[in-house]
Amino acid sequence: MSFKMTDKVTWVGKLDWELRRFHGDEYSTDKGTSYNSYLIRDEKTVLIDTVWEPYATEYISNLKKIIDLKEIDYIIAQHGEVDHSGTLPLLLKEIPNTPVYCTKNGRKILEGHYHEDWNFIEVKTGDTLNIGESTLTFVEARMLHWPDSMMTYMSGDNILFSNDAFGQHYASEFMYNDKVDQCELWNEAIKYYANILTPFSKLVTMKINEVLGFNLPLSMIATSHGVIWREDPAQIVLKYLEWANDYQENQITIIYDSMWHGTRRMGEAIAEGIRKSDPDVTVKLYNAAITDKNDIITEIFKSKGVLFGSSTVNKSIQHATGGIMDMIRGLDFKNKKAASFGSYGWSGESVKILQEKLAEAGFEIVQDGIKALWNPTEEAKEECREFGSKFVESFK
Ligand code: FEO
Repeated sequence: MSFKMTDKVTWVGKLDWELRRFHGDEYSTDKGTSYNSYLIRDEKTVLIDTVWEPYATEYISNLKKIIDLKEIDYIIAQHGEVDHSGTLPLLLKEIPNTPVYCTKNGRKILEGHYHEDWNFIEVKTGDTLNIGESTLTFVEARMLHWPDSMMTYMSGDNILFSNDAFGQHYASEFMYNDKVDQCELWNEAIKYYANILTPFSKLVTMKINEVLGFNLPLSMIATSHGVIWREDPAQIVLKYLEWANDYQENQITIIYDSMWHGTRRMGEAIAEGIRKSDPDVTVKLYNAAITDKNDIITEIFKSKGVLFGSSTVNKSIQHATGGIMDMIRGLDFKNKKAASFGSYGWSGESVKILQEKLAEAGFEIVQDGIKALWNPTEEAKEECREFGSKFVESFK
């Protein structure tokens, strides 16, 4: 599969309908993904990024159907992560001396992955490459999301090749933002931001403002995953600015694990208390043991407050809640309130442990956690309702 985006630019990537796990098991890709690669034919011919190694043979075979590989003058490796660079070893066996444009960090990462002495050309922000009628301008995007990440702007067609930024793990043959199901698109876009870019939000804001300062005309944002933004491409840029600014909705999320449903009953009673005190707030409950972890992270991203619950097991917390706790510590969420709860039988450490972990992760603890012995009594559930009311009142 390939398709022309403009007279000069052709998409030559790979739609991966099967992918269900990305970054090992760190990210669920329920709707697959695409590895977007772009071929530019001006006076010079340029290939921007490649695809993941399992699809290398197929990718090169497809590329050969539309071009003699020897016609490729330059390769631009915007990012060394293997989902975009994985075909370089096979490709550069066929065209070994082709210059590979990348950042200084990109070179280190590519050398680290492939141990090859390719014809690297290191570039930095503002460097340009004239390819005929068009000029390519490179923009380093360090830590969006790796140290080597880079974008490339093509004049004339006014396309920003943004690599991972503005992407989504979303396979669709339609490939353009105006052609796909908008609910699916935005669900995948916010999930991608929440799970991958949250820790780098300050840098997202700085980089977007830097690029906007160039006042470049923009017809398309061509990402490395998911759809190409061609209808009002600025909408995803504005949405990123909103998401990067300690984003929150009027939502409180309750996340728990429960051995014999006692902690679940507590969470449901807390939700009742929240709704009673503030009928307008959205309250969502998720059992961490049976819910996709990345969907939970997305809901935390959207929340102004979170409540974590776990039964006590072996003087600690249940492992599903522990996993989410480790994830949120790394994601560095800002401006979110939290509290903890849990049922117990004898020692009852879980609530204190959850509270400490939430504080370590940067959440504001608004009240000490609440415990219930064994299966919560009606009296204990009423205390949970009051606990929920008090929690939501802290936002007023
Ligand atoms: Fe899509 Fe950071 O690789």
